[in-house]
Amino acid sequence: MRWSILQLNLKSHFLFPGITSVFFDAMPECVTDKPMAIKPITVRHDKYDLIVFAWQPWFLSPSLPAIAAMHSDVICALIKNTPVITIAGSRNMWIQAQERIRQWLKKNQAIHVGNLVLKDKAPNLISAVTVQYWMLTGKKDKMWGIFPKPGIADDDIASAVNFGLMACQALEESKLEDLHKNWLQKGAVQVNTTLMFIESRAIMLFRIWAKIILSKKNRNLWINIFRYYLLFALFIISPIVIVLFTLIIRPLLYKKLAQQKIYAEGVNLRG
Ligand SMILES: Cc1cc2nc3c(=O)[nH]c(=O)nc-3n(C[C@H](O)[C@H](O)[C@H](O)COP(=O)(O)O)c2cc1C
Repeated sequence: MRWSILQLNLKSHFLFPGITSVFFDAMPECVTDKPMAIKPITVRHDKYDLIVFAWQPWFLSPSLPAIAAMHSDVICALIKNTPVITIAGSRNMWIQAQERIRQWLKKNQAIHVGNLVLKDKAPNLISAVTVQYWMLTGKKDKMWGIFPKPGIADDDIASAVNFGLMACQALEESKLEDLHKNWLQKGAVQVNTTLMFIESRAIMLFRIWAKIILSKKNRNLWINIFRYYLLFALFIISPIVIVLFTLIIRPLLYKKLAQQKIYAEGVNLRG
């Protein structure tokens, strides 16, 4: 089997890890789909049997490098009529961003044969703290010695090889169209309906924030205000929303949520 890795090189440099404002500054462009400039891409072949698109969600959107890839004519041409696997490395809120990836694959006539979502299994508020610690210090260790290690657990990363082996087998046996169904049985995508609901509301607010920030001259000031809003939303609003969701919304919207969950777990094989 021949394979190649295509690594995107951004024209400008990210200052991760280290600067709080850089972390939050990414929000407006992520949410409004503004690509960063990338260096010219060269690919070894015009056509591949299978493409793996590995990406991260940032602010409930594809990350800035992922957006840059999605705007690249070279990559859009490569995925046309070609089986594509998507792999998300996330904290725990990937559904809204995945939808943008799905629509991109559909628009470019890719054959979406599998989706694997790796996530941090720590409770939502804990991972919100630890991911920031990790991104801002560059240390993937236990914050203050008491928090869990940030990010996807080492065991989950190690066992992801099993999904890779299943994909290789499906490719060799020309059964890629069955891959996602088999992956789902092994837990490739696990949707938490509470987080799915929170995400669907939060993205609307992020869009409003992005519009406000992009329209302001004093961007840094507004990014800082957004930063404090986000902390407030995470630690004060979201626990209240979770209680309301569990007691009132989930019982009322049970069927609709179940349908949304099935959709979020799936892939659009052919458009
Ligand atoms: C600026 C920024 C925003 C992020 N926003 C989200 C998000 O909305 N949802 C989510 O699940 N993870 C979010 N994350 C976490 C990343 O998706 C990812 O889990 C983390 O960067 C570690 O990725 P790695 O294991 O590939 O290094 C964010 C990370 C960064 C740097």
